[in-house]
Amino acid sequence: MNTLQAVEYKYGKLHIIDQTKLPFEEVKIVTDNLERIAVAIERLEVRGAPAIGVTAAYALAIVVSKANSKDYSQIFEESYKRLARTRPTAVNLFYALDEMKKVFEMNKSKERLPEVLIQKAISIHEEDKQLCSKIAQNGLQIFTKKSRVLTHCHTGALATGGNGTALNIIRTAFDNGLIEHVYADETRPLFQGSRLTAWELDKLSIPFSFNTDSTAAVLMQQGKVDLVITGADRIAANGDSANKIGTYNLAVLCHYHKIPFYIAAPSTTIDKACRSGSEIKIELRSNLELAQVRGTQITKENYPAYCPAFDVTPNNLIMAIITELEVHKPPFNF
Ligand code: MRU
Repeated sequence: MNTLQAVEYKYGKLHIIDQTKLPFEEVKIVTDNLERIAVAIERLEVRGAPAIGVTAAYALAIVVSKANSKDYSQIFEESYKRLARTRPTAVNLFYALDEMKKVFEMNKSKERLPEVLIQKAISIHEEDKQLCSKIAQNGLQIFTKKSRVLTHCHTGALATGGNGTALNIIRTAFDNGLIEHVYADETRPLFQGSRLTAWELDKLSIPFSFNTDSTAAVLMQQGKVDLVITGADRIAANGDSANKIGTYNLAVLCHYHKIPFYIAAPSTTIDKACRSGSEIKIELRSNLELAQVRGTQITKENYPAYCPAFDVTPNNLIMAIITELEVHKPPFNF
């Protein structure tokens, strides 16, 4: 059962949970404005690769439904390009945009085009729900005992159209008596772990604690972590996986401490056109995301800073990649 919907389409508008306000305030952005939706993706008001894709699909359908002229091509093209500029690494965004474009091209001269596009966006959303459930079922295979699991960033219901990827495996494992404790990396600089993962785990009554990203090493050294599972924003054909900055650190630490490191993602996150991680475009974020915490300056904003949103974990550090299809073991060849 779904606990919450990060994004909902109702009567021509998108209802988006504003993730920047969590865990303090549970408020929704209600809009049918393309620019507002694009900005929501850029500000991470809606975030997580699959949720970004679902949002973009609805945005394209809404923009065509609202258009005054019957010449939809220009508005569709401009909206496609605006959305494609929002978050370059999350491949699910481009998967959803391209699926919508295919349907647009096939139906652009039809009277029913707006309705057909809405139906397509709904089916992308529904597909993601199904993928999340199957990932969770497949993920149960990695547990050999009741485990202490560490995760990074946030990969639950807020980040997808369904109940999540890595966090949904944890949730399903908990329901099957296989989780003793979850360690949530706080995930600098935007704290998806201490805000969003903690919020979802708390709602689900799953035992957890959060820690600074740099505490992961000592938790492993103290023998407190049995396995690590994270999500991914783009997986190359050879299995190299881009995910939230700090994921690579965890994979290196797992290698040193002989702890299995897993990636969980739908097959829509696999980019077969990308041969290896070196071809993955990594999004750079503003210096201000490091220099401020919730609008409070913590250092001088003119100090130079380096703020990549993601890093790439090389395939040789990954024990398995869990998709809706199977638990893929190395060597990966997607
Ligand atoms: O920058 P974010 O918060 O969108 O980054 C999200 C992640 O890195 C997630 O791990 C990934 O998108 C998978 S979400 C199921």
